[in-house]
Amino acid sequence: MEFTEVVKTRRSVRSYKPDPIPDAVLARVLEAARMAPSANNVQPWHFVIVTDAARRARLGKLASGQTFVGEAPVVVVCCGKRYRDHYSWLADNMYVVDCTIAIDHLTLAARNEGLGTCWIGAFDHEGVKGAVPVPKGHDVLMLTPLGYPASSRAFRETSARKPLRDITTQA
Ligand SMILES: Cc1cc2nc3c(=O)[nH]c(=O)nc-3n(C[C@H](O)[C@H](O)[C@H](O)COP(=O)(O)O)c2cc1C
Repeated sequence: MEFTEVVKTRRSVRSYKPDPIPDAVLARVLEAARMAPSANNVQPWHFVIVTDAARRARLGKLASGQTFVGEAPVVVVCCGKRYRDHYSWLADNMYVVDCTIAIDHLTLAARNEGLGTCWIGAFDHEGVKGAVPVPKGHDVLMLTPLGYPASSRAFRETSARKPLRDITTQA
C-alpha cells in the first residue's frame, strides 16, 4: 500500500475474524517492529506472540475485560527493559519511547497487510506478567490483538483529530 494511505486508514480494530495469520505475513509485521529506531540503538523491546486460545482469553480478561483482545488469532504482548540513558532528561524511562516507536511500526505494518490492531494500555500489569512468559527484567508496556477485521469497513479515514493549526507553532 501507499504509505500515506497506510497512515490515514490505520484504525483501532475491536472485532476480529478467527482466521489465522500466515507465517510470512506475521514475520513481515514483526520485522517492521525490529527495524524501529531506539536511543543509542539499545533495542530494549521484546514481543511475546500469544496464539494459545486460553491464554488469549485470559489476556482479554486482564485487559479490563476487553474480551475482543482474545478474539484475534494473535495477541502481541509488547515488553520493554528499562535502561539508563545518560543523554536524556528521561533518564531510565527512554525504553518507553523506544518501545512505543516499535509498536507503532508494528501497527502500521499490520495495516499494510490488511491486519487490524488496537493499542491496549488498560491491563493488569502483574496479571499479564503471570499469564505469559515475559522475559526477566522486562515490563509489559502494551498489548495488541492482531488479526483480520470482522468488518469490511474497519479501515476508514477519521476526522477525529485536532486541526494542524492547533498542534503546531511556527517559530
Ligand atoms: C497508549 C494507548 C493506549 C490505548 N489503550 C486502549 C485500550 O485499552 N482499549 C481500547 O479499546 N483502545 C485503546 N487505545 C486506542 C485509542 O482509543 C485510539 O487509538 C484512539 O481513540 C484513536 O482511534 P484510532 O486508533 O482508531 O485512530 C489506546 C491507544 C493508545 C495510543
